[in-house]
Amino acid sequence: MIGIYDSGVGGLGIFNAIKQVLPNESILYYGDTKYFPFGERTGDDIRHITITAIKKLAQECSIVVIACNTASVNDLDYYREQVSIPLVGVVPVVKTAAALTKNGQIALLATTITTTADYTEKLIATYAGDKIVAKIACPGLASAIEHHTLTTEALKNYLQPIGAADIVVLGCTHYTLIKGQIQRLVGPDVKVIDSNEAVARQTLRVLQQAGTLSSNLQPTYTFECSGDRSQFLEQIKRYAHL
Ligand code: DGL
Repeated sequence: MIGIYDSGVGGLGIFNAIKQVLPNESILYYGDTKYFPFGERTGDDIRHITITAIKKLAQECSIVVIACNTASVNDLDYYREQVSIPLVGVVPVVKTAAALTKNGQIALLATTITTTADYTEKLIATYAGDKIVAKIACPGLASAIEHHTLTTEALKNYLQPIGAADIVVLGCTHYTLIKGQIQRLVGPDVKVIDSNEAVARQTLRVLQQAGTLSSNLQPTYTFECSGDRSQFLEQIKRYAHL
């Protein structure tokens, strides 16, 4: 069983990608909605909340995908030290953005925690040191997506600081759920990219290496959360490809 973890429904884009790449795997999706949003919490707080949930998932799952940039950048190595099962994280696709940009200008949209994390800084220095990378914190955007309250006007305001960038990196899994809407607003000359498929392929590789790929013809998909269940399930229906 694959465990997928996020603060809420943001990881459903990764759920959809994993379901496509690994159609025989059962999946337990866990949204830690009681603590949502992570993006405005302290690093210590997020570390504690995340490791507690991962340990719980590790009792049932042979691998956990941390489908949350905010939790992953802060910090994956620590979580890996704490559990014996493999963990796959999601971080902004800065390397791909650096390879794709034509004008050398990249916009990274993410939570406040992700835009200010040392990990993100290192990613940029390592892979996009010769590019202009605007780190754009979008407080409130993940919440508006989680609660389905986002207006086009509000989204336009979040996207305004992108300026002349020709690549937009979605560095928060929630934003990937409205990728189409973002792409329409920024126009065809700007490429909007995310990590969902790369994470699914990495999950496949890890399972292959561990020799634990399943051949189950009737995999199960289970959704759990730590907060209000009815609202969570409504969003699952909206975003999960079941
Ligand atoms: N989905 C999470 C991410 O990828 C963040 C949402 C939140 O702030 O809880 O960063």
